[in-house]
Amino acid sequence: MSEQKVNQQWGGRFSESTDAFVQAFTASVQFDQRMYREDIAGSKAHAEMLFKQNILSQEDFDAIILGLTEVQMDIESGKFNWSIALEDVHMNIESALTDKIGIAGKRLHTGRSRNDQVATDIRLWLRNTLDLIDDELKRLQLGIIDLAEREYSTIMPGFTHLQVAQPITFGHHLMAWFEMIKRDRSRFQDCRERMNYSPLGAAALAGTTYPINRHLSAELLGFNAPTENSLDSVSDRDFAIEFASSASILMMHLSRFSEELVLWSTPAFDFIDLPDRFCTGSSIMPQKKNPDVPELVRGKSGRVFGHLMGLLVLMKSQPLAYNKDNQEDKEPIFDVADTVLGSLRAFADMVPAIIAKKDNMYLRTKLGFSTATDLADYLVRKGIAFRDAHEIVGKAVKLGVDTSRDLSEMSLEELQNFSSLIEADVFEALTLEGSVNARDHFGGTAPAQVKAAIERAKVIVG
Ligand code: ARG
Repeated sequence: MSEQKVNQQWGGRFSESTDAFVQAFTASVQFDQRMYREDIAGSKAHAEMLFKQNILSQEDFDAIILGLTEVQMDIESGKFNWSIALEDVHMNIESALTDKIGIAGKRLHTGRSRNDQVATDIRLWLRNTLDLIDDELKRLQLGIIDLAEREYSTIMPGFTHLQVAQPITFGHHLMAWFEMIKRDRSRFQDCRERMNYSPLGAAALAGTTYPINRHLSAELLGFNAPTENSLDSVSDRDFAIEFASSASILMMHLSRFSEELVLWSTPAFDFIDLPDRFCTGSSIMPQKKNPDVPELVRGKSGRVFGHLMGLLVLMKSQPLAYNKDNQEDKEPIFDVADTVLGSLRAFADMVPAIIAKKDNMYLRTKLGFSTATDLADYLVRKGIAFRDAHEIVGKAVKLGVDTSRDLSEMSLEELQNFSSLIEADVFEALTLEGSVNARDHFGGTAPAQVKAAIERAKVIVG
């Protein structure tokens, strides 16, 4: 990046150039050059609106469009020389345009300010990013469905307090993840919808004296409409906070999935095998296979939560309208986007490749007295009040603990010692298959219900 003395764009009232350190300290081009496509698209739409409103001549308009296209080609072919002295992406591009086409380039900034320009660029950038995120969320949903279809009737322990609670199906567990991602998608969609309004034409803060048509530039850029109030247009960063907030909730979900994958792949659980390509080894312990991807995603949730807090504090107490503080929104937004897209990509690739160790899942379910509630429900069906049934089964479990046996491994006579109402049909209730099959209602864990949930999910994903 090259340096330049007194700033071309606003140096008029200054008698000395900016201190070299201050110039670098206040510049944003190092990171906001990521929005060059949006900046050029915004400028083209603005120029077209100016032309249609007879504010710009045909000749100037043509030169601007051609020049901006060339600038974009220069950037994309690596020929563009970004300059710190030109502060940000907006002034770098405008200056390059003027170098190419002369005075017409200087007319582009008629009826706008960098304040509405940057507010437009970042919304366009985020809108595009939200579409990429939606694609990855959808891919993850399809990956979850894929695994759930294979494992819809696989029995595993369901946990509460991380203690074995009741038998469930692995497909049911996976479809719980699907529900979380479903809500994440809808949150990001809401964020996109609320954000998709054009600040262009709000100018510095109060609007402009030219006969502009804000509806036209909004339409040209694919916005729903122009924003209502010029002060709010240049200073609103709610969309950045909403984005970071939706991203934080998503990352919280991914950290929960990650934690389960980490636990399940330890020898202590041994419920799943993560394919080698998502794991790494240890340089000192030859036996190790570490679940790096879920661990890293679990860790990355922290930086996203941090950015949410950073953006909230950035906006807190800011008086209307634009303040230089607002330049600080870019890096958190970019980092949240990169982190979310990377984490989603890894998860969408990994989830359908998870191998369930069905035998281990089954064994663990059996060892944990997971059908104790089923025995209580059985007694209730025989006329016993639930609280009494709970007490009776508790005693049976104690015998099981003392003699290292599951309830289903006790004889009928032994069970009848706890209640004379117990008959031979009790063993149907005590099997794991019987237990999951019996939870056969909307939202329940019965394989038939999981299948139905998967079919509904396929329709939703689209
Ligand atoms: N680089 C600035 C930003 O990111 C652009 C707007 C600057 N406006 C101004 N009046 N200094 O917010």
